[in-house]
Amino acid sequence: MSDSIGIVILAAGKGTRMKITTPKALTHALGKPLLDYVVEASLSFASSSKLNAELGVVIGHGKELLETWHANHSSKTFIKLAWQREQKGTADALKSCFSDLPHFWNHEYTLVACADTPLISAEEFSLLFKELTSHPDLVGVAATFEAHNPTGYGRIVRGNEGFRIIEEKDADQIQKGIKEVNSGFYILRTSHVKAVLTTISNDNKAGEFYLTDLFKEEFAVKPVIFPSEDPFLGINTLVQLAEVSGKLRKKKLEELMLSGVQILDPQNCYVESGVSVGIQSILYPGVTLLGKTKIGERSIIESNCFIKNTQIGNDVQVLASSHLEDSSVHDQASVGPMARLRPGSEIGEKAKVGNFVEVKKSILKAGVKVSHLSYIGDAEIGEDTNIGCGFITCNYDGAQKHKTKIGKNSFIGSDCQAIAPISIGDNSFVAAGTTITKDVPAEGFAISRPEIAVKEGMAKRFLKSKKT
Ligand code: UD1
Ligand code: MG
Repeated sequence: MSDSIGIVILAAGKGTRMKITTPKALTHALGKPLLDYVVEASLSFASSSKLNAELGVVIGHGKELLETWHANHSSKTFIKLAWQREQKGTADALKSCFSDLPHFWNHEYTLVACADTPLISAEEFSLLFKELTSHPDLVGVAATFEAHNPTGYGRIVRGNEGFRIIEEKDADQIQKGIKEVNSGFYILRTSHVKAVLTTISNDNKAGEFYLTDLFKEEFAVKPVIFPSEDPFLGINTLVQLAEVSGKLRKKKLEELMLSGVQILDPQNCYVESGVSVGIQSILYPGVTLLGKTKIGERSIIESNCFIKNTQIGNDVQVLASSHLEDSSVHDQASVGPMARLRPGSEIGEKAKVGNFVEVKKSILKAGVKVSHLSYIGDAEIGEDTNIGCGFITCNYDGAQKHKTKIGKNSFIGSDCQAIAPISIGDNSFVAAGTTITKDVPAEGFAISRPEIAVKEGMAKRFLKSKKT
């Protein structure tokens, strides 16, 4: 098959240096698995190059988790999995790909990518591919760069013809001083891979089969040096994860700002890759936006708000220190300051959820106002109803959760409790201090208030009796 390429992403490694149990390929950077970034770059290269491309991901450590990742991936039909039974090194990983997916031998070219470099893009793949194809005598190219700190990377030792790669563990003091390092991204003629892969030994300090042995001084191979190390920054430790995540975060915030989102303090704003924000919206310092959060246009998110997987409409205000999760807030609504929307909350158009209000799995229709100190759980509240300060839906009886339904245009006075399950009709009025234990019909009036006893001049006598 000519003009075809097999793209192989090595994702079987344990990531021992990460010191965490999650497989490295599935560790998140800016809310997305590291592997996804490399898959996206590969898919984008495959479509822009117009090559007949196929994508293989080699999995091993955390196999079941990676299989689940694959099953849920939007491009799963394009991505083939290969299984490296034992993690014996990067050359062994590539071998596993060819043994599980033997038709990969038919591709004229093989691109090898590591799963732990989320800043990579299709651009680097294209440049590398161009270098290889514009030199018909070459059998392989490796992307290299000058590292500020080469520690941990394979060093490039250039020979008269080709070059070789010496891993950190095997390097002597002079080789350790070499700044040009291996990125872990290669494009090779598959015929070269076929000729050399099975001859690679594990005779090195780590006892691993190194894929870097595909490159030798005597082979027609070439290092392609890239001007910046950024696209190739590899993640082997949580320190590197934080550094690379910082770069991804900066890029994301710049994209948002260039699209018309005002970010008052980009150093202190954390926005994950899957988040979208509409034009003329403003993010105050200390805002955290996670997961699939979507914010419309002209909305304002004040300081220290934490918003996860929440849909926010246009002209919404989320005031300082509010916490929103798996919820939706419709146009022109206002939430906070210091409000909490727990999963399943829907705040209608122009509705208001004020300070110290907690809402859980409830629908507040358009124009509802819950301005202060309330708990609304498992409830539905109709249009334009006003809920006074200190209202509580008593939704839990110690064993089960129950629903509260309040109609539209109703008035619930301050300090009321609705003992669910309960229903309060449209246009009804519940007086302050009422414990609502019976359904209230539409246009009904409910009050439960013990008679107050007022004794003239008794205050002094009462206090005196306490003191003696
Ligand atoms: C590798 C390169 C090194 C390069 C660096 C760039 C080798 C021998 N070394 O080192 O020259 O400078 O990347 O980041 O290739 N993997 C498997 N199976 C295994 C081992 C690893 O699939 O048995 C996968 C890992 O999941 C990872 C990739 O291969 O995605 C690279 O492995 P890693 O252990 O990170 O290699 P480095 O030490 O970084
Ligand atoms: Mg690595």
